[in-house]
Amino acid sequence: MAERPYLSAAGRDSLLWLYDPLTRLFGADKIFRSFLQQAALQPDHVVLDVGCGTGTLAVLLKRLHPTVAVTGLDPDPKALARATRKAERKSVAVRFDRGFADELPYGDATFDRVFSSMMFHHVPRADKPKVLAEVRRVLKPGGTLEFLDIAPQGEDRMPGRLHDAGFVDARRVGERKLVIGRIAFHQARR
Ligand SMILES: C[S@@+](CC[C@H](N)C(=O)[O-])C[C@H]1O[C@@H](n2cnc3c(N)ncnc32)[C@H](O)[C@@H]1O
Repeated sequence: MAERPYLSAAGRDSLLWLYDPLTRLFGADKIFRSFLQQAALQPDHVVLDVGCGTGTLAVLLKRLHPTVAVTGLDPDPKALARATRKAERKSVAVRFDRGFADELPYGDATFDRVFSSMMFHHVPRADKPKVLAEVRRVLKPGGTLEFLDIAPQGEDRMPGRLHDAGFVDARRVGERKLVIGRIAFHQARR
């Protein structure tokens, strides 16, 4: 993996320790549980959490669905170290890889589900189409992208972006208002 800049979970390394307590305060557990539900996971699924950060979603997924094979990917080694410790504490086997969403180190048609939680707004605008193309490439035919991010004011451009990347049935499946603003859930199929 070539080194290059990225925007980390809390904006800077020294604040990373605050990320989990703050997201807990904003109701991350409840939000992640309903996010996982939208994916209709099956026992034999192979799943990627792209931009997994400190691994909260990936670890929760593995706890709720022990037979699902779970991989988390993030460019931030410090976040991945936290994610690894979290999985160890919860005694679950999650694979964590270092990498960028626009250069996924996986073969074509590897995953049944790809989750992306609060990652997309960290990606520079010019790289966003490549991220969606990469996610589509690593999804099996019929597999789905499960997408959660900040919902910008005004028109929802996400379904259009997803269709432009070749996804089908791209739609907004929910939204929530938090103190930090509105978040939206989307889903799209390869
Ligand atoms: C706000 S955090 C979200 C972490 C986790 N998914 C969650 O919901 O708690 C955004 C994450 O995206 C990662 N990130 C930033 N740029 C990225 C890129 N180009 N590819 C993959 N992940 C990236 C950051 O390192 C960070 O861990």
